[in-house]
Amino acid sequence: MRRQVGPSALPALKIALMPAACIEIHPGAAHLPEVLAPEEQRALAAQCLAIGAGPAGWYVPRVRGGGRMRVRMVCLGRHWNARTYRYEASRSDHDGRTVLPLPANLADLASRVAAAAGMRLAPDVCILNYYQADGRMGLHQDKDERPETLDAGVPIVSLSLGDTAKFVIGGFTRQAPKTLVRLASGDGFVFGGRSRLRYHGVVSILPGTGPSGHGFAGRLNLTFRQGAA
Ligand code: SIN
Ligand code: MN
Repeated sequence: MRRQVGPSALPALKIALMPAACIEIHPGAAHLPEVLAPEEQRALAAQCLAIGAGPAGWYVPRVRGGGRMRVRMVCLGRHWNARTYRYEASRSDHDGRTVLPLPANLADLASRVAAAAGMRLAPDVCILNYYQADGRMGLHQDKDERPETLDAGVPIVSLSLGDTAKFVIGGFTRQAPKTLVRLASGDGFVFGGRSRLRYHGVVSILPGTGPSGHGFAGRLNLTFRQGAA
């Protein structure tokens, strides 16, 4: 078992990745149900909630048109600016605060989840999303990372905690057929290679479906990316 400890300001997170099923949805896109054991989920949730409650914590991004996203967000490593779709060192579209570093234990966890899906990832960014019962995320591509990273198909690693989400992954146009994947607490989802630029989104959250004892309502999702620095 490998153990990683977070920065001293945060609760220690000891993660032992469970041997997970790896269900191929498309070549390069895989669902890893229950990749995190229940106690690992609780520790990860505690770390995420501590970050979100801190001074450079949760905020609700406003997109280009001025509308508010249906999710609370914190970026770690680099800040994703929802107005410019660029990564930057401070939250210039919100409060100007310097972005928090990406904790080494989280980066290591993401690399191991990628490896469990047969891919390689050395993330420099994690976008932490916190969905309430009415949360969702419209169909989009993750294409704001460096072009060479996108061209190489370096994957996105997603980890989910709490309530189950109805996640959809489609093709390379908005109209292409979509596959619905229920992402439950502890699930991983990895999309890279030829699937790196597939459209995807969160249709809805299924309130009250998360495990009891996690100490929060709603859903936390972490997406790890490489090529934002
Ligand atoms: C995202 O696409 O950035 C988030 C996906 C999710 O919440 O599952
Ligand atoms: Mn995305």
